[in-house]
Amino acid sequence: MKLLVCVSFFVATLSFVAGDEPNLFDAFHRPKLNNSSESYKGVNNVSSSSAKHTTLDKAFLQRQDALLFTKVVGYPAVLLPGDGGNQLLAVLNRSEAAHIYCSKSADAFTLWLDLEELLPLAINCFTDNIRLIYDPKTKKSSSPDGVNITVPGFGGTESVEWIDPSHLPFGEYFVGLVNAMVERGYKRGVSIRGAPFDFRMAPNTENAYFSQLKTLIEETYTLNNQRKVVIITHSLGGLFGLYFLNHMEQSWKEKYVQAYAPIASPFAGAAKVMRLFASGDNLDEKVINPLVVRPAQRTYPSSAFLMPSDTYWSANEVLIITPKKNYTVSDFDEFFTDIQFETGKLLRNDTKDLVHDLVAPGVPVFHVHGKNMPTPERFIYDEIFQFPDDQPHVHYGAGDGTVNMRSLKSFLKWKNEQPQQVEEYEIDKGEHLSILQMPQLHQYLLQNVLIPH
Ligand SMILES: *[C@@H]1O[C@H](CO)[C@@H](O)[C@H](O)[C@H]1NC(C)=O
Ligand SMILES: *[C@@H]1O[C@H](CO)[C@@H](O)[C@H](O)[C@H]1NC(C)=O
Ligand SMILES: *[C@@H]1O[C@H](CO)[C@@H](O)[C@H](O)[C@H]1NC(C)=O
Ligand SMILES: *[C@@H]1O[C@H](CO)[C@@H](O)[C@H](O)[C@H]1NC(C)=O
Ligand SMILES: *[C@@H]1O[C@H](CO)[C@@H](O)[C@H](O)[C@H]1NC(C)=O
Ligand SMILES: *[C@@H]1O[C@H](CO)[C@@H](O)[C@H](O)[C@H]1NC(C)=O
Ligand SMILES: *[C@@H]1O[C@H](CO)[C@@H](O)[C@H](O)[C@H]1NC(C)=O
Repeated sequence: MKLLVCVSFFVATLSFVAGDEPNLFDAFHRPKLNNSSESYKGVNNVSSSSAKHTTLDKAFLQRQDALLFTKVVGYPAVLLPGDGGNQLLAVLNRSEAAHIYCSKSADAFTLWLDLEELLPLAINCFTDNIRLIYDPKTKKSSSPDGVNITVPGFGGTESVEWIDPSHLPFGEYFVGLVNAMVERGYKRGVSIRGAPFDFRMAPNTENAYFSQLKTLIEETYTLNNQRKVVIITHSLGGLFGLYFLNHMEQSWKEKYVQAYAPIASPFAGAAKVMRLFASGDNLDEKVINPLVVRPAQRTYPSSAFLMPSDTYWSANEVLIITPKKNYTVSDFDEFFTDIQFETGKLLRNDTKDLVHDLVAPGVPVFHVHGKNMPTPERFIYDEIFQFPDDQPHVHYGAGDGTVNMRSLKSFLKWKNEQPQQVEEYEIDKGEHLSILQMPQLHQYLLQNVLIPH
């Protein structure tokens, strides 16, 4: 039996082969998380309002320094994951649950990613716990009352190597790259650090995260004998990385940042997000009803942030075709009215300018991305597959399977906009998510960015 799971947008193909396992519940015991604070070195809460130094103490730093003097590897790296690319924990203390079978209270458990959460019925509870509520006054989104979601593992690599803490193959994420780096002398938590974040959010509300990221980079620099840090990102993480670099002083970047190495970065958004808003996105897998996950997916500011850019899509290029109306990048307000999600207008307005102009990051850039994968670029509804509640026909174009080629290539303009080098490395059939496990990617980053000759 093959079960493909996808609730979030960019975790495109988490495929899992269960063999003849009779009972999914037996196969996926919820991992024991009561002990988790001990297995992570670092702050595990991106929503805290003040920047917190990670928990590494001075003695630890000195001890690690001493160790590293004996074995100098390449430049240390910080990893920023994409949409759905790190674990989320939840604690529940709700006065009401969405359904009679949903728990109202629970100690810390893995909300993302745990297959049990996505099974029939359970998924209704999952959706109600992971959704956000927008406050138009503060322009911030938060969980429903009684739901506390935190991001574990900041500073370590565990929660970005494996999206599912039980390490089943379908939850593999940065693990391939991290293993390749460890083989070359890198150390988890010392010269490779994870910077997971709440991927439901857009950068405009995440100042606390960016302060933590700044501290993490400075600390990693110190910990590694004053070696500059490479910022490696996947997917949405590339936009968080760019936003961060755009907000740092040039002198800081020159001191601490060796390079920015985004992987599969949707610099100008992706057409696929239009379907997510309209009809929900389960990536064509029948196991999950897209309409069940749609109410949560629509509420993520990161979804609005990833809508196609009006710089790279023209106003006469149709993204969604319906019998009554067509929608282009100029029709987003009308689109949100027609799908009856008015909040979408506000979410888009809050996020559309965050990296809209793609300001050059001011550090050397190495973008690795795939090509030659059929990538959704237009969605067609008709009288039978009706807008917006049915799944549309898909028209495919160039890209990495998730991100359209024009968005992947939009960064090339930086070649004329910054003195530092701007490199592109394309991998044939480098699918958006599975590219992370491809040896070509690991080799390229090790040879050209991390341990250049
Ligand atoms: C974790 O919880 C289990 C039961 O849920 C308990 O047996 C175990 O002692 C706990 N471990 C710690 C370190 O608290
Ligand atoms: C709990 O933490 C201890 C000490 O860090 C570790 O040895 C043990 O393996 C952990 N147990 C689990 C279930 O994570
Ligand atoms: C986590 O975030 C909440 C605010 O959402 C804050 O009250 C709490 O102190 C934070 N915890 C840590 C460990 O930073
Ligand atoms: C749970 O919420 C109630 C109010 O709804 C509050 O009185 C109680 O202290 C909360 N419990 C915990 C453990 O936070
Ligand atoms: C959420 O959980 C974190 C970590 O357990 C805790 O520090 C924080 O105080 C909680 N926030 C709220 C609002 O209960
Ligand atoms: C929508 O676009 C398609 C393809 O460009 C075109 O054939 C159709 O007439 C348009 N429909 C409307 C209602 O404008
Ligand atoms: C749209 O965003 C701008 C800032 O980018 C803000 O000034 C304005 O109030 C927003 N409009 C609405 C309707 O929220």
